[in-house]
Amino acid sequence: MESLNDVKLELSVKAAILRSADSIPVYGDFAEPDADEGSQIVDLVAAGIHQVTRSAATGRHYSQAGVFPVIPGLNAVARTADGQLVFTASGRPPYGTFAERIASPDAMRFAVPQGAQPEAVAAGINPGMASWLPLTARRAEAGAPLTVLILGVTGVAGYLAAQNARLLGAARVVGAGRSEPGLARAAAVGTQTLSLTGDLAADAAAIAAALDGDTPGLVLDFVWGPVAESAFAALGSPAGGEEGVSTSYVQIGALAGLTAAVPATLLRSRKITISGSGLGSVPAAAIKAQIPVYLGLIADGTIQVPFRTFPLSQVAAAWTASMQSGPRVVLVPD
Ligand SMILES: NC(=O)c1ccc[n+]([C@@H]2O[C@H](COP(=O)([O-])OP(=O)(O)OC[C@H]3O[C@@H](n4cnc5c(N)ncnc54)[C@H](OP(=O)(O)O)[C@@H]3O)[C@@H](O)[C@H]2O)c1
Repeated sequence: MESLNDVKLELSVKAAILRSADSIPVYGDFAEPDADEGSQIVDLVAAGIHQVTRSAATGRHYSQAGVFPVIPGLNAVARTADGQLVFTASGRPPYGTFAERIASPDAMRFAVPQGAQPEAVAAGINPGMASWLPLTARRAEAGAPLTVLILGVTGVAGYLAAQNARLLGAARVVGAGRSEPGLARAAAVGTQTLSLTGDLAADAAAIAAALDGDTPGLVLDFVWGPVAESAFAALGSPAGGEEGVSTSYVQIGALAGLTAAVPATLLRSRKITISGSGLGSVPAAAIKAQIPVYLGLIADGTIQVPFRTFPLSQVAAAWTASMQSGPRVVLVPD
């Protein structure tokens, strides 16, 4: 006869479980997700631990409330009951994607093209779309920018931004960052790199020197804070104002600081607009329209995504590893 414990286990799913904002997820049993109307249960194939995954799970991202316990994970590659490989968003909280089974919302499920490496897709969609959306928006409005400046080029999002910018027609990509391996990786895809030192004036001078009189049509800023202030100083310097070129400065991430002072003289002396790109500022329809395009680029190898995998049961080690710079950490089923 079935014991109560057997029944409980039948109704649970193996998952990463985060119990508080300041803890690390542990592997365990969580109540099985329900496929309510508008969703279906899919099996995990690969899920990336992105910066936003950690800040959303811990309630620190502006889009999340912070409810515990929670299964982290905002998206994943998964397999449907009829065998299709899909890219999906997570279900309703507390059900994230770091679980053997996921309640996949019908409105946010996309076919993964044949031949795709699921781990690369799981690693690449979030950081890649971060620049793909502003780059395609800028191109549609004003043509491809000749020069693109990337602040934080050493992160995965920065590396993919460098590839995306080239693919979308930028003649010149200048990328600023700290870590030598990250700079070397960006240089290998045709980026002119410069080292950030943390000294505001020195970094401003290095950015101005690298731009060498070019005004970037687009700035993709993944770090903000003092790095943005150095960029503002460089863009406002006498050498930074090419006649007739307007700069669209897009704030995407804030790893160096949540605030940055914008000099009044920059706004008066240059044709520059400063805006942000993220959940809330980019229409959901625009994101949904571009995901299949970007899935195709990762699937056919046009965009190279660095990743390293951990089994779901090793989620605690994976979470800690994801806090270090380097290839994107991806969870796969045991
Ligand atoms: N808005 C969106 O749509 C969107 C989408 C995806 C990502 N993002 C955001 O974009 C940012 C980058 O994401 P990612 O995936 O590239 O993360 P990542 O791969 O973890 O890389 C983070 C990078 O940030 C750099 N960094 C951290 N603190 C810095 C500082 N004080 N000065 C200069 N560089 C610093 C590190 O540089 P070093 O290695 O050189 O130390 C590291 O390479 C995150 O804030 C993320 O949340 C936004």
